[in-house]
Amino acid sequence: MVALIRQAVTWLEGWHEEARTQPPLPGSVTLPPVAPAPWGLDATSLMEDLELVVRGSYNPWHPGAMAHLDPPPNPASVVGELVCAWLNNNMLAEELSPLLSQLERRLLRWIARRLGLGDSAGGVMASGGTICTITALVTARHQQGLDGRQACLYASADCHSSLAKALRVMGLPAAALRLVPTDATGRLDPHLLEQALGKETEPILAVVATAGTTIRGAVDPIGPMADICRRRGLWLHVDGAIGAVCGLGQRHQGRVAHMGRADSLTMNPQKWLGIAKASAMVLLRQPQGLADTFATPLAYMEPARVAHGGDCGLQGTRPAEVLKLWLGLRQLGQQGIDDLLDGALHRAQVLRQGLAPLPLILPSGDLHIVCFRPSAAGSSEAWSRHTRQLLLDQGLMLSRPLYRGTRHLKAVLGNPFTGMEQIATVVDTISASLSR
Ligand SMILES: Cc1ncc(COP(=O)(O)O)c(C=O)c1O
Repeated sequence: MVALIRQAVTWLEGWHEEARTQPPLPGSVTLPPVAPAPWGLDATSLMEDLELVVRGSYNPWHPGAMAHLDPPPNPASVVGELVCAWLNNNMLAEELSPLLSQLERRLLRWIARRLGLGDSAGGVMASGGTICTITALVTARHQQGLDGRQACLYASADCHSSLAKALRVMGLPAAALRLVPTDATGRLDPHLLEQALGKETEPILAVVATAGTTIRGAVDPIGPMADICRRRGLWLHVDGAIGAVCGLGQRHQGRVAHMGRADSLTMNPQKWLGIAKASAMVLLRQPQGLADTFATPLAYMEPARVAHGGDCGLQGTRPAEVLKLWLGLRQLGQQGIDDLLDGALHRAQVLRQGLAPLPLILPSGDLHIVCFRPSAAGSSEAWSRHTRQLLLDQGLMLSRPLYRGTRHLKAVLGNPFTGMEQIATVVDTISASLSR
């Protein structure tokens, strides 16, 4: 085992040197053989297989990798992932992860407090934001006695598609997602929310505030939404997959102000903080709601001191993803967290400033995401495809989301290796492409 790991690390060392010079997207892709060989492979052959995998993969290490919310991974979190696999503990039950179950509860309690959810708040990790959202909404429904009943959900028109998925999982029709229009800044309009709620005839399982929309990074007005929910006795869920990490920083908490008034909240350290995937959590003001909703209980395990991980969410067997989050945060320290947030916001500001004089529609945003399209009507589809290719030819990868029916280009500035040089090249390329 140790010899193999050492060989893998040596091999990775060589690849890591090269990664910053390899473009984000691979050229041609050669798949390794999929079936096991008749006899087991030695370390050298395994490394040859891995070489093909790495050469055909998306490369987050290149400074031009700025298309999505997938930055290069935090180094300590990669080590945490390795140790996690080596320990092979199981977060299903306390006896299979005695320390790690406690570590998860403690760390999530600390994070929940830090985000303002209160002293008794806490939660559970799950494999990605979508599963966390589903966990939160199933809990909201159960806690309000709405299981098996028709119920609806309110969210901004720019909310993430995981809400639609959650409704499907919960057996509710797509129309149960009531989309509230946003204002010009991309934030849900609380007056329209209030009006719509006043006319609602079905039970409302939750109002969702998005703290960082996927395409433009807008943060809904959580304070006014929390006021509305309090007045009407409604469950407030904050989808903080992207933006909630601002609450861990010292200088950007105001961007997600009042987030701590949520009943439930999701956060993805795998995005902006770069903790190796998957790293996501659902936090509740009253975490007992998780066990109330999901405990079956696990009759084949020794009783847990608090509640088994497997009784607190959708997943049963689950890796100890807390290890890489904990180790990653320990490595970053407060200073490192602040630097990551500052750096990304600064790069986004520089890109915005560079693009501002160009004939573009540049929707505003509150975080480290910049999206835009040409102001000339009708040209977005072909222009964005052509321009994305021009950028890719220079090792710069932006994405091409469909926003309100029109293709945009989008840059996420969470990659700490992206420098002013790459941002200037993006601006120059967009400028040249617009004047073709
Ligand atoms: C706002 C928002 N919520 C939820 C999600 C879902 O997260 P995941 O992809 O980890 O399931 C995303 C993903 O980008 C997102 O942007």
